[in-house]
Amino acid sequence: MKIHNISTAFAVYNKIDELPVDVQKLMEAAIKIKNNAYAPYSKFKVGAALLLKDGTIAVGNNQENAAYPSGLCAERVAVFHASAKDPNMEILKIAIAASSEINTVSKPVGPCGACRQVLSEYEVKQQKEIEIYFMGEIGDIIRTDSVADLLPFGFDKSYL
Ligand code: THU
Repeated sequence: MKIHNISTAFAVYNKIDELPVDVQKLMEAAIKIKNNAYAPYSKFKVGAALLLKDGTIAVGNNQENAAYPSGLCAERVAVFHASAKDPNMEILKIAIAASSEINTVSKPVGPCGACRQVLSEYEVKQQKEIEIYFMGEIGDIIRTDSVADLLPFGFDKSYL
């Protein structure tokens, strides 16, 4: 028996102004679209913005439902929308921002497990890493350089 360790590197930015200029724009798009989220149940709004290889930005926000599990997270709304529009699109970067009507979200909000799995599908498909930036309403912004950093031992088509 041998114990192995997996380590994840991530970067922390203290404010939006510290981000690369293209990512500042992307995060601003995520914050803007967050305000259109349909989140009457959780009051927790999330916005996601993707920078695509062709330079365009695709956005999404969380869409809740009275039948709770029927709703969908912002990240998946954005990715599925982009892929529906152009099945050959490539995602370079994703910015995620969240806020709550109940309290101030001061911790960076990373994508949920299901969204990591969905993002991983596209990272594997395009064979190019996706940079992920995520924040709350205030406070630090975290960057990882790939989805794989957030999802060790991810399931992909190689198992099928
Ligand atoms: N949510 C997202 O949109 N993205 C995440 O990665 C985490 C959670 C949404 C789902 C639900 O509408 C609300 O946040 C509370 O869980």
